[in-house]
Amino acid sequence: MAPSANGQTVGRRLPVESAFTRVEDARHRLPRLFGRRDLVVLGLGVMIGSGIFSISGNQAALTAGPAVILSFVIAAIVCLLAAACYAELSSTIPVSGSAYTFSYVTFGEMWAWLVGWALVLELVTAAAIVARVWSAYFLATLDSFGLSLPANVAQYFGPDAKLNLVAPLLLLLLTAMVVTGTKLSARVLTVVVAAKVAVILLVIVVGATHINWDNYKPFVPMPRAASATASPTLLSWILDSSFGTFGTMGIFTAASSIVFAYIGFDLIATASEDARNPRKTVPQGMLLGVGAVTILYIAMAVVLVGMRPYGQLGGSAPVSSALSAVGVGWAAKVVNLGALLALMTVIMVVLIAQSRVLFNMGRDGLLPKSLGRVSRVYSSPARAAGAAGVAAILLTLYPKVLELEELLVIGALFCFAFCAVGVLTLRRSEPNLERGFRVPMVPLIPLLSLAATVWLMLNLKTSTWAKFGLWMLLGLAIYGLYGRWHSRLANEDSWDFDIGDTDPGTGGLQPVRPAPEARTGELRAVRNPPPPKPGRGKHMRN
Ligand code: ALA
Repeated sequence: MAPSANGQTVGRRLPVESAFTRVEDARHRLPRLFGRRDLVVLGLGVMIGSGIFSISGNQAALTAGPAVILSFVIAAIVCLLAAACYAELSSTIPVSGSAYTFSYVTFGEMWAWLVGWALVLELVTAAAIVARVWSAYFLATLDSFGLSLPANVAQYFGPDAKLNLVAPLLLLLLTAMVVTGTKLSARVLTVVVAAKVAVILLVIVVGATHINWDNYKPFVPMPRAASATASPTLLSWILDSSFGTFGTMGIFTAASSIVFAYIGFDLIATASEDARNPRKTVPQGMLLGVGAVTILYIAMAVVLVGMRPYGQLGGSAPVSSALSAVGVGWAAKVVNLGALLALMTVIMVVLIAQSRVLFNMGRDGLLPKSLGRVSRVYSSPARAAGAAGVAAILLTLYPKVLELEELLVIGALFCFAFCAVGVLTLRRSEPNLERGFRVPMVPLIPLLSLAATVWLMLNLKTSTWAKFGLWMLLGLAIYGLYGRWHSRLANEDSWDFDIGDTDPGTGGLQPVRPAPEARTGELRAVRNPPPPKPGRGKHMRN
């Protein structure tokens, strides 16, 4: 029998033991393949992408000047604070679904749905945008090797093309890889991530020998008023201010966009059910990953703004352009190739993460339950992965998809805020749960994380807020019309039904081989000391 749900109320919370129990059920689990190293690779695979290879230069040129270095530091602090909160939550509830599952346990179903819905937005936008940027880099790489395409063919490659064929084809290929198995994806990721880190180190070392110290002056350019047509940030709209770009506020505005470059550490938590000893490895992978990219990004930003006057760092490939401009064309070619690899792994990890989120929402009945099944052929949540890929393909066909960049950031920041509050709430509501990692100085660090996240959200454009509001309203409508009624928690009997009687005709669930963790009961909710709670723990295995 399922644990007690709170009736038909939207405030019903997923009992924490249920989060573990559903993972332990052999017919609903994924094979555990990732160790700590794989999780760091996963994090680097999704973090290092268009943020550092493209947004860095653009934000220097258009918003912050050389002080974009400080924007990277601010974004790193915000993400490190958030990563600490994610680390505690994922070490307490190490099941896939990331902020969605944490919120389900901590705040209740409707909030979890909204967080999951924001996560879906973040991930589908990321895959679609990065695929478009990849198509642009592909064209630039061909150009740099003297293989320019005829104009009538090249028109289908450009990031702004009305009909871009390359991005959907790339997404189709990567979706097929994700659908057909995590193990293959993890191997590919390891090789590719090693290559792109090597490329970044190359830029830092080669670029450092071409720094012109005059390029750092003025470090914080004079503020400029916003143009009449530009959408203001929410903060400037609230304050009825005309501040636009550069100056001190420009540093914060750029920091909001640069969060894009760090996004991905939060996705490590979506692989919790793929991880061995997730209480330890997931928080370690997350914090090590953010720490590593922080060092790489700040070093690269220092070198980038040192190589060229900030006004010349715009364009789709600012890093390779800067290297060409200082006369190291060979390094520019290597960077273009590295960026192609970098962007490809970002998309792949995003698709993996999206499949895990959809898998969880399907498993919980908030989306069609067929999404919450593991393919018996591929041992992967193949349907969820397919759905993630199709959504990204459809979105990347939208000609103005690149303008949706801030939507990705706002979706992620929304989840960061819930995690910061979640740490405080869960410490009070479930103080005895085993925590593989504890945020230090509670409540200070989670409150700082919340304040920093909200501050960056205020620095996003009002047009972004409007689109985000519409998306969330759509989400609420779907929840009210579908998820609320089909939720597994709302239908306690269907919890048992799904586990025992999955229809094999729909693809069903594979009989997954028992993993060592299942035998040792690693994922049981461990309390210290274990108190018997009435109506809880009925699904736990011994
Ligand atoms: N952090 C990822 C990137 O920069 C999303 O592409």
